[in-house]
Formats: sequence, C-alpha cells, structure tokens
Amino acid sequence: MEQSLKHIAIIMDGNGRWAQRQGKDRSFGHKQGIESVRNVVEGASQKQIPFLTLYAFSTENWNRPEEEIDLLMQLLASAIVNEVPTLMKNNVRLKTSGRIDTLPVDCQNSLQKAVVQTSTNTGLTLVLALSYSGRSELVDAAKKISEKVKFGTLNPDDISEETFSQNLYNPDVPDVDLMIRTGGDTRISNFLLWQIAYSELFFTPIMWPDFKKENLFDIIELFYTRERRFGKTGEQVQTQ
Ligand code: IPE
Ligand code: IPE
Ligand code: MG
Repeated sequence: MEQSLKHIAIIMDGNGRWAQRQGKDRSFGHKQGIESVRNVVEGASQKQIPFLTLYAFSTENWNRPEEEIDLLMQLLASAIVNEVPTLMKNNVRLKTSGRIDTLPVDCQNSLQKAVVQTSTNTGLTLVLALSYSGRSELVDAAKKISEKVKFGTLNPDDISEETFSQNLYNPDVPDVDLMIRTGGDTRISNFLLWQIAYSELFFTPIMWPDFKKENLFDIIELFYTRERRFGKTGEQVQTQ
C-alpha cells in the first residue's frame, strides 16, 4: 500500500557541535543552519509535501546563555525578512507554532508580516516552531477546552481526541507522518508530543548545517519502504 506523506517534522539539531568541531563559534553553526533550512524547504516543495514543521527554538532553549539567545533571535528576525521573496516565489505559506508572544517584538513583527504576506500561497505550508514546547501546547489546549466547558459551549462528555486536535496551535495541520532528527541524538526534546503518536521516526548523525535536500529525499525513500500498521497485522495492511 502506498504510504501517505502529508506532514514532515524536523528537529534541526547539531549546529553548535558542527561549528565547534571546526574550532569555530556555535554562532557560525546557526548561521550555516539557515542555508540548510532554505535548501530543505525547497526540497520539500519539490516533492510536493503539503506540510513541513521545523523545530527552530524550544521553550527549554531559553535556558541557554543570553548571548546565544540574542544571536538566534537576530538571525531569526533577519532570516524571515530575507526569505519572504523566496517563499512567495515558491508559493510557500508560512505559519508559526509555539508561544510566539514570548519572542522579541521585532521577531514577532517580522513573523506576523511574513505570515500575512504568504497566507494565500497554496504550495507547501511551512510551520516554524518557535518558543515551542509539546507539553505547553497540550496545557494550552486543555485551557481552551476548559474555557468552552466553563461557558457552557462544550459538554465534558463530548471531549474526544478530535476535541484535543482541534484545540492545538494549528488545528488545520495534520498529524506528523515522518519525524526526522539530525545531529545524532535519539530523543524527542518536547517536540509535537500529540502529533507524533503514530509517526515514523528517523534519526540521522548528520549535523543540521550538513543536512541538505538530498538527505531528505533519501529519508523519504526509506519512509515509503516502511509498513505503517497502526495496530493492525501486516496481513490486514497488505490487503487494504
Ligand atoms: C540546534 O542546534 C539549534 C537550536 C536548538 C536552536 P544546537 O544549537 O542545539 O546544536 P548542538 O546540539 O549544541 O550541536
Ligand atoms: C531541540 O534541540 C530543539 C531544537 C532543535 C530547536 P536541543 O539541542 O535543544 O535538544 P536537547 O536539549 O539536546 O534535547
Ligand atoms: Mg542541540
């Protein structure tokens, strides 16, 4: 059976180590990482993937040294502004996920502008996860649901998995089919906890600045060879 591949999510890890191995500052890795973002977004568009989510900054990353956070925020603000023409050219629609209101105001403004400007594009939807935490997203969903119960528009007996999905940050973005982490570590680091319930997971030792669309294409090929059984038997799935 042909696998459906609607949504790829990537934990873009390894920028710092990539730079340090060459005797350079971690910031050099973050700058180089932007090149990979551009290249991989282009690759996902070429493969006509409907949704790509990139984990760019976690809630936990606020615990990094102030200097590194400042640099990451500056890079983010300038990259967004610089990339809008390319997003437009490639028909990419930008969305964000996370507690965007905790970002510096200039980042919020350039993000907001880019989201509005690209909102009617019909190709790839690119979701940037920024100041994102999977647990916070679930807590925020629980708060929204509680409000509806409080105001009498939702009956607690009617709360379902669908209710949760509908109250996440981007209810129109489907669950993740393929989750990739670069940089050699094999953990989730609080990314999309709800949406990866049945994702195929791929971990690659390639550091993010070295990860390019060819690497993405190789993983996509491997994804299509995997049998996703969703709890059923292999026989059931093969005769579907
Ligand atoms: C990923 O690379 C980028 C962010 C988390 C912002 P890292 O900065 O985590 O790089 P390593 O994992 O230390 O090499
Ligand atoms: C995960 O990478 C977050 C992003 C890629 C944005 P980290 O480098 O922060 O993850 P840990 O701390 O090693 O788990
Ligand atoms: Mg890391």
